[in-house]
Amino acid sequence: MSLTSFLPDQPQVDRSVGDRVRADYERFAREGLPERIEEYLLQRYDLDVSTHYAGVPIANPWGKASGQLSMTARQVTEDVEAGLGFVVLKTVIAEDAVGGQSMRDWAVKESRMVAERITGRSGKEGWTISWKGRGWWQSFDEYLELVREARRIAAGSGTLIVPSCKFHLPTPAEDSWKTDEYRCTTTRLLEAWHEPVESRGSRVESQNSGLRLSADPQPSTLNPQPGSTLNPQPVMPLEKDFSPTLAGSDRAAQQAKILEWLTVVPRLVRESVPAGSVRVGLKLFNALFDDEFQLQMLRTIHSAAGDSRPDYFVYGNRLFDPDREFDGHRGIAYGGPDLSDRNLRVMAAFQRNDEPRPLEWSATGNITTGRMALEYALRGASSFQLHTFFQLPADQYASVVGSKTAKALCELYFHPQTGLVVWMHHLAERLALDRAPIRLRDVIGRGPVETA
Ligand SMILES: Cc1cc2nc3c(=O)[nH]c(=O)nc-3n(C[C@H](O)[C@H](O)[C@H](O)COP(=O)(O)O)c2cc1C
Repeated sequence: MSLTSFLPDQPQVDRSVGDRVRADYERFAREGLPERIEEYLLQRYDLDVSTHYAGVPIANPWGKASGQLSMTARQVTEDVEAGLGFVVLKTVIAEDAVGGQSMRDWAVKESRMVAERITGRSGKEGWTISWKGRGWWQSFDEYLELVREARRIAAGSGTLIVPSCKFHLPTPAEDSWKTDEYRCTTTRLLEAWHEPVESRGSRVESQNSGLRLSADPQPSTLNPQPGSTLNPQPVMPLEKDFSPTLAGSDRAAQQAKILEWLTVVPRLVRESVPAGSVRVGLKLFNALFDDEFQLQMLRTIHSAAGDSRPDYFVYGNRLFDPDREFDGHRGIAYGGPDLSDRNLRVMAAFQRNDEPRPLEWSATGNITTGRMALEYALRGASSFQLHTFFQLPADQYASVVGSKTAKALCELYFHPQTGLVVWMHHLAERLALDRAPIRLRDVIGRGPVETA
């Protein structure tokens, strides 16, 4: 066992489970997944996949990570129809009351985007998406319309809609924060998120009760029972995307500034809106420094108190290779096996320190199998957000039915060697989990697993 792999290469499960999974994989590849997949998993495999994101109960752990695949109503519709637990919308660039954007260099449209094979340093094969764009490049009003539309589409479905934003971050040479950007952007995102929506069953959901929400910012439970009402409390989760450009500053100044950002941002977002109306999630990035600095970022957010402490975090956004080239451009972000190796190594090292008050977190980075998702869950992740795996060429999925999201879910749940179902059964045995039902929630944060 190593820090990058708590699980063996092959799952060990009863033959009857293996046979059922193989039959289901073939059938669902031809016919599409059952509509009520969570019920099906419960009945046929004693498996409860409900969990939580940002303290909000969700029916299953799968989410769309922020990016080019969550920019339109059509994409959100496909994801809601496929039954994702949550969708994080593309990152919008914050603006102040007169439309000023200090991070406007990030509002760049992608010109070309390709899924490429990549070999990690370990020799493992995987995929990465190469492209040149950055954040949302249309107007802020158009983004607000996307938020409203996404909420309408998702109403009554159980899929949680999460905006993502890049706010002003001062450079090491700057002392002041553009708090106006935080206030204007968060306020307007919250208003859009709370607009009354017509649910799919044409029931009008009164989501404007938002201002009552402030009374109880905490979820009533982080361990919802199957069948419990999903997403009951209308508190808006918000991911803050950190992808810094600090080129030109020296290393120590950069590091000190990044650590300052991590504690100031949650407070500024919270101060922008009524108390308890937003849950702040920091999407941590892989900085150009060593693992020790990643651990320092994690320790910083965990030791923050009061309003400076985020509600949750996302770990960890893509790696950056200053020498990698794409489309005549040198220096691009990349993913694949090196990304998951690094994330898993860092989170395992962090977990070994036995943080007394662990924050909830959502995993991102090369999640292409149920097995990989569970590697993250064993290190404490309660949900999984994917981008690359929803964007592969069609021949990479066994399923021939539905959207890429639906095809990807068929692999993630039912692949006979790498799917969540066989690996949950493997873990039920190894961790002596309660079997009535076997709960994903019981795996979260369990750490390394003894081999047989
Ligand atoms: C084309 C592309 C666009 C992305 N755009 C964003 C973004 O706007 N905001 C953000 O927080 N992350 C963005 N990401 C990062 C993804 O959300 C995700 O965290 C990362 O790609 C790791 O997951 P993956 O290995 O499943 O792709 C983007 C990634 C890709 C490939």
